[in-house]
Amino acid sequence: MSDVAIRRVEQGDLSALLAIYNYYVRETPVSFDIAPRTLEQRQAWFDSFAQTGRYQCFVAVKDGEAVGWASSHRYHERAAYDTTIASSIYLSPEVCGLGLGRRLYATLFDALRHEDIHRVFGGISLPNEASVGLHLAFGFELVGTYREVGRKFGRFWDVATYMRPMAPGGGPKP
Ligand SMILES: CC(C)(COP(=O)(O)OP(=O)(O)OC[C@H]1O[C@@H](n2cnc3c(N)ncnc32)[C@H](O)[C@@H]1OP(=O)(O)O)[C@@H](O)C(=O)NCCC(=O)NCCS
Repeated sequence: MSDVAIRRVEQGDLSALLAIYNYYVRETPVSFDIAPRTLEQRQAWFDSFAQTGRYQCFVAVKDGEAVGWASSHRYHERAAYDTTIASSIYLSPEVCGLGLGRRLYATLFDALRHEDIHRVFGGISLPNEASVGLHLAFGFELVGTYREVGRKFGRFWDVATYMRPMAPGGGPKP
């Protein structure tokens, strides 16, 4: 998809990104939110990102509209967890499987490589072959699977936890 640009998230992307997120909330178990998010709730999410530091967000832009994002977040509020982040990635359904997930994660991890980060966590509700495949391709390893920890659409779902090392001083370990 050479007609798609990757850049940092901007305020003007927020409603397009919210629509993508709420699609997965309404239609799939990918997100464990059950009620769609509002623009005000999503503003706090947007405000957590900066141009440097541990928490950053990049978007894929097609025909002037954001069609997906990859972002990094606080993993846990307690301070000793500061060097661990969580990553998140969502694409609009019509652009899945075209290499954009790979481009977004490559951009995000490149931007984070000199930050003080030691571990990256990813939680994936199962089944999600594309997300598992992408995370394995980016050096995440399976830590374990929590059985039936989420209930949505009248059934329980498993969540697999993946972890990716970052080298001391930045950069993924070889
Ligand atoms: C998961 C997601 C971000 C992956 O992005 P993508 O653009 O579809 O993936 P890419 O085309 O960049 O593929 C990158 C790698 O992921 C893996 N992958 C992608 N789709 C796959 C599939 N259907 N089955 C298995 N592996 C797959 C492959 O390893 C692939 O590398 P390759 O092309 O060299 O084989 C995207 O499909 C998506 O947004 N899905 C819906 C939302 C979601 O599940 N988000 C993650 C929540 S944990």
